[in-house]
Amino acid sequence: MNKVYKAHIIYTRQADSFEVLENGYIGVNGKGCVTGVAADLASLGCEDAEVTDLGDCLLIPAMNDLHVHAPQYRNQGLAMDLELLPWLQNYTFPEEMKFANLSYAERMYRRFVHDLWRFGTMRSCVFATVHTESTRLLMDLFRDAGMGALVGKVAMNRNCPAGLQESVEDMVKGYEELLACSQSSRRKVSEADKVRPIITPRFIPSCTPEMLRACGELAGKYGLPVQSHLSENRDEIAWVRELEKESKCYGDAYDRYGLFGQTPTVMAHCVWTAGEELELIKRRDVMVAHCPTSNFNVASGMAPVRQFLDEGIHVGLGSDISGGHCLSIFKVMVYAIQVSKMHYQQNHKRPFLTLSEVFWMATKEAGSFFGRVGSFEPGYEFDALVIDDKDLNHDNYTVLERLERYIYLGDDRQITHRFCGGREITGIGNLGTSTE
Ligand code: GUN
Ligand code: FE
Repeated sequence: MNKVYKAHIIYTRQADSFEVLENGYIGVNGKGCVTGVAADLASLGCEDAEVTDLGDCLLIPAMNDLHVHAPQYRNQGLAMDLELLPWLQNYTFPEEMKFANLSYAERMYRRFVHDLWRFGTMRSCVFATVHTESTRLLMDLFRDAGMGALVGKVAMNRNCPAGLQESVEDMVKGYEELLACSQSSRRKVSEADKVRPIITPRFIPSCTPEMLRACGELAGKYGLPVQSHLSENRDEIAWVRELEKESKCYGDAYDRYGLFGQTPTVMAHCVWTAGEELELIKRRDVMVAHCPTSNFNVASGMAPVRQFLDEGIHVGLGSDISGGHCLSIFKVMVYAIQVSKMHYQQNHKRPFLTLSEVFWMATKEAGSFFGRVGSFEPGYEFDALVIDDKDLNHDNYTVLERLERYIYLGDDRQITHRFCGGREITGIGNLGTSTE
């Protein structure tokens, strides 16, 4: 059965401009895909469809988070006094160890999935922990919510506490278990591929060559996507150079093990990527997850995003909780613009990012990692947010000005409806209490 929604429709087909249709109509077919956007019902060809009139609200594509750590949710807004490597050892690894405990994991993961929903993020690329059971639980929470996620059981077998290390055999076994339950949970055909495992070597310092090789083989054998961290921090890069003497650059260390574009790959940060590594990213069509809040908080640096875009590299946005402190991708957009303005002040050669560019990165660009997601062009899955911004709207703002003000000033209170793959998503209950 076709559905039609009427609202002020805004989305991006390309980086440099918004598509805006005031009081427009959008058609969604029985498979949850957009059939078209039009100024009137007749030109949509859906005269007999049920029309939901959303009044004076904005209707925009839902947010996609290309890089986030679910088990770091308790640490959100904490522990910003160290750079990456000591930050991992002192704050992050001790918290991730707790996810051996399933009831702790359930309490934290419920809150995490609920808050992604609250802030309008319908698809995400998620790092879990090394623990298979709690990773499975996180996947089930996404499935129950009806939200899309690529979830990584994190591969680690060196340079971290024993409680976070796993043998290569157990890593492979764990992934095969997760794959088996992904397949058996294909309850509804349309939901089948929304939650899937993604191969997740944490980063080169956490994985021996044997572990990296096994990760690459798993990705190839099952056609699974890959996510990791790349060239985030200068001490990290120097360490990788020591560990992987034969690699031409950090990216090459992944490439040598089949973890760099052999299957769809997203690498977080790329703050210090240049030269050979930039060329390799381009050649292998590796996607970059730009995480500006994290790059500020753990003092990593400013990623050369304008250069990436100029070179045709695909860039999406990531919250990188808890290096980053904002789960809302709208806020991450604002930081992406601000960091690019700092970059511009230091180096006037390249213009700073615009609002349509960061919106496009968070919707259509990041969405491309999940399928036909992130736009309202025909054939795209209907992932959408309804924004009722009347409390921000005290003068005659244009529809685009309203979107800009929402991005800068709004939060979850203005999001009245969320859709993922055509279905309205109503959130996740039973959040428990902090004393549980
Ligand atoms: N590099 C390896 N692990 C991590 C992590 O958990 N967060 C960030 N920001 N970088 C990493
Ligand atoms: Fe990260």
